[in-house]
Amino acid sequence: MKEKFYITTPIYYPSGNLHVGHCYCTVVADVIARYNRLSGKDVFFLTGTDEHGQKIEGKAQESGLTPKEYVDNIVANSKLLWKDLGISYDKFIRTTDEEHKECVRKIFQKLYDKGDIYKSEYEGWYCTPCESFFTESQLVDSKCPDCGREVEKLKEESYFFKLSKYQDRLKKFFEDNPEFLEPESRRNEMFSSFINQGLDDLSVSRTTFKWGIEVPFDTKHIVYVWIDALSNYISALGYLTEDESLFNKFWPANIHLVGKEITRFHSIIWPALLMALELPMPKKVFGHGWLLVDNTKISKSRGNYKDPREYIQYSSVDALRYYLLKEVRLGQDGNFSEELYIKKINSDLANDLGNLISRTIAMAEKYNNGVLDKESYKNLVHEQSDKDLIDMVSNVVINYEKHMEQSRPDLALEVIMKCVSFSNKYIDLNEPWILAKSEDKKQRLNKVLYILAENIRIISVLLKPYMINIPGKIFEQLGIKDNSEILEYSSVKTFGQIPNNTVCKKTENIFPRIDIEVMLNERNKSEDVKKVEEVVKKPNVSIDEFDKIELRVGQILQVERIEKSDKLYKLLVDIGIEKRVIVSGIVPYYTESELLGRKIVVISNLNPVKLRGVESQGMLLAGGEKDVVKLLSIDDCIENGTLIH
Ligand code: ME8
Ligand code: MG
Repeated sequence: MKEKFYITTPIYYPSGNLHVGHCYCTVVADVIARYNRLSGKDVFFLTGTDEHGQKIEGKAQESGLTPKEYVDNIVANSKLLWKDLGISYDKFIRTTDEEHKECVRKIFQKLYDKGDIYKSEYEGWYCTPCESFFTESQLVDSKCPDCGREVEKLKEESYFFKLSKYQDRLKKFFEDNPEFLEPESRRNEMFSSFINQGLDDLSVSRTTFKWGIEVPFDTKHIVYVWIDALSNYISALGYLTEDESLFNKFWPANIHLVGKEITRFHSIIWPALLMALELPMPKKVFGHGWLLVDNTKISKSRGNYKDPREYIQYSSVDALRYYLLKEVRLGQDGNFSEELYIKKINSDLANDLGNLISRTIAMAEKYNNGVLDKESYKNLVHEQSDKDLIDMVSNVVINYEKHMEQSRPDLALEVIMKCVSFSNKYIDLNEPWILAKSEDKKQRLNKVLYILAENIRIISVLLKPYMINIPGKIFEQLGIKDNSEILEYSSVKTFGQIPNNTVCKKTENIFPRIDIEVMLNERNKSEDVKKVEEVVKKPNVSIDEFDKIELRVGQILQVERIEKSDKLYKLLVDIGIEKRVIVSGIVPYYTESELLGRKIVVISNLNPVKLRGVESQGMLLAGGEKDVVKLLSIDDCIENGTLIH
């Protein structure tokens, strides 16, 4: 029977479009998954989306959509991105999937029944107007950090998970399984900052919002989003359903690949939950680092990113995948900038690998009509440079496999690229263009070219997990049929497998250099296309439907920033009939003084929504996107409260 291999990525919050930071983790996981398939294992690769919680609820409200409508859009877009990036997942789980929700309810019930979840009270400071709880340290001058009003000490009912009960077992588990959490720095941190410090029971339900999975036996409670999210790794396999065959086959996971900031949830809370469920522990949690732009994390909330498809457009999906694996050491942070990206692609792929291939094939065509002569390779005794190269290749294969088996595709790629530069040196050392000058060196020349072609074949097989399209193109130029056995992983272990008289032929340039100017031109073009695409049309409405909307002239009387939000202002607006608090995400576009006193147009009969703890009673009309957003303005002489039809 085939050995099994179960790998997961985190499930992403669909709270904005995905960026290269997200692509990083998923591409790394994909490379690991592809290697394991290539080497003959039965692989299950899981990714998906984490769709519940207050954050998504708030985002949906801001966009005037239901949470489900809001996430559906983003999820559809993420799936397209994964397709473009060649992500070969076996399952895409959404925490809004019915099967997942049912599994989470069963897990919650099971833990409650065995006494590991109990009801208690979560104590904190409560601001009644804001309907929000705060901890002591969140208060500002002992007042509500959102509205500045008095707060009172209150208790909120909450269910708790007995994390403390598992402290000793976790400690022992960490001690007995040093390979469980990598890299080592992260293991030390978890150990000293959490496990050794003592673990408090964890509040695992909320009553302050609705977008989530209800606690089955007490439906005013919503399951804490991390309990919901972590369970995806087993709900995806049908845990606690009638058919647990996938679960029985694939659990425990071989590796959960996660970002460093969520390592704690995966290496402490998740194992404790599994202990409570009496399930085996995952074999490994790997906490990778972040992609940085100008030394800060690329992130949705900072907005310092581009659509990853832009990079693919002017380079290729394989170039982007290559960069992510080569430039970032797994476990450490790595820089990402367009300049670094283009430089790296040009130097490693266009120069080193690209030249190796194009030189070899061009010489074979020029000196021997493209024919690869295995007889010369076999008949002629190896010279020192041949031995060195062949030895090196066999070491490369051994080290590649060692790193890949430890789920370190970054190190394995380094090994491959060393092999590339060694091969280029082999060309320089043997100077085929000189050999070509004397008829009696013909066999030697053919041998050198055969060795190079064979080397390129092996490199290309090793590159298969990293690159989706390129290896196939290389094999084609080498004249090897796609279904040939010598493209399988097992074939890299024996040197000298290209059949005699195989004919290679240069067709396209496999790794074109990226020309920055051309790239910028392409980008402008694609931005024009995007503009056209973005003319979104909504369905027609009747005059009666439109008439239901009440628009009034308003005037901004007070402006305050909402703490911890990059976008939101809390505005006090006079709409004639009364004064309203309206929360609006226009911080990036207007300063406080630009807003104060300004006449605006308000939708005044919108259902109130809560944003960052502040109730917003209406919406301002504004137009534009990304960099430019402008409020609808209206003549100062029109009185506040005037209806607009
Ligand atoms: O944390 N560089 O979701 P998320 C590298 N829903 N990785 C990055 C990154 C960057 N600049 N930015 C984000 C969540 N990531 C939870 C997970 S799992 C049961 C629940 C990575 O969308 C980040 O480290 O905020 C994390 O691993 C993943 O993207 C998802 O982040
Ligand atoms: Mg995050």
